[in-house]
Amino acid sequence: MRIGVLTAGGDCPGLNAVIRSVVHRAVAQYDDEVIGFEDGYAGLLDSHYRTLDLNAVSGILARGGTILGSSRLERDRLREACENASDMIHEFGIDALIPIGGEGTLTAARMLSDAGLPVVGVPKTIDNDISSTDRTFGFDTAVGVATEAMDRLKTTAESHQRVMVVEVMGRHAGWIALESGMAAGAHGICLPERAFDPADLVSMVEERFARGKRFAVICVAEGAHPVDGSMDYGHGEIDKFGHERFQGIGTALAYELERRLGKEAKPVILGHVQRGGVPTAYDRVLATRFGWHAVEAAHRGEFGRMTSLRGTDIVMVPLAQAVTELKTVPKDRMEEAESVF
Ligand code: F6P
Repeated sequence: MRIGVLTAGGDCPGLNAVIRSVVHRAVAQYDDEVIGFEDGYAGLLDSHYRTLDLNAVSGILARGGTILGSSRLERDRLREACENASDMIHEFGIDALIPIGGEGTLTAARMLSDAGLPVVGVPKTIDNDISSTDRTFGFDTAVGVATEAMDRLKTTAESHQRVMVVEVMGRHAGWIALESGMAAGAHGICLPERAFDPADLVSMVEERFARGKRFAVICVAEGAHPVDGSMDYGHGEIDKFGHERFQGIGTALAYELERRLGKEAKPVILGHVQRGGVPTAYDRVLATRFGWHAVEAAHRGEFGRMTSLRGTDIVMVPLAQAVTELKTVPKDRMEEAESVF
């Protein structure tokens, strides 16, 4: 079999572990040939690829980023790719294509699959917002980074009697804010799923200081919004990939709290730090299992599906099911988090 693999969309710790696992299983078990397309779907469209043998993936299990490079694809180019899907199969002679990516990548994978390409998807995103899988790799690493950052910020905040507003990633789903906020014992957590009122945060900080506490940490997802009219903050414009350009809620909220409280409030934007560096052991294992199962699915001819974690099992689910809706934080998970701060 000839298998093509690519990584697309925002990178994520664990991508290299999937690539390595695909190559190990395909080459060592089945004597397949694996080719890696460079920079996501762009490599597929522009015929930029290289052979991946066992040596090519040696030593990459713990490495962050992706050895293949990644990029986002504009919708028009994707449509063009779908129109030429059968030409591509003949040009590269691939029997299976394994795209590894988030919502945008899997939507593209579904379109290519519908156009006739033999596709097996592998979900990835630090945001953990893909429905049909309990977890995505990269999320555990991002939560660990954000938790450690807040642990560190607490000690310096306390020394200076400050409020720290820590902005983490999460455009539509607040999983990173929820879990890192809980793990670090943040005193306020703001998620995209529910508009927050800055007045509640002001009360919380005042109550803490009134009982002798000397600091507060608030964890806010980048996609969180204040209740309409509660503070000066607008919606951003939409970029060419359909993503909202955020206005910087961490900075705006820190400014607002400082103004209302008369205490120093500092914004800390964690940004891409959450996506870089070595994956945790959990993410390496999940990524490795996804790669292994993707190759098995390809050999069974199970196309148009993606790997998924259900409990502790890896199962195959239809791509169509995976990309219909985002997995957002449900109300009961928010209530659990609220009960601890
Ligand atoms: O989807 C993953 C993610 O890390 C989001 O949390 C974030 O908003 C986005 O990617 C940022 O992407 P980039 O800066 O790479 O375009």
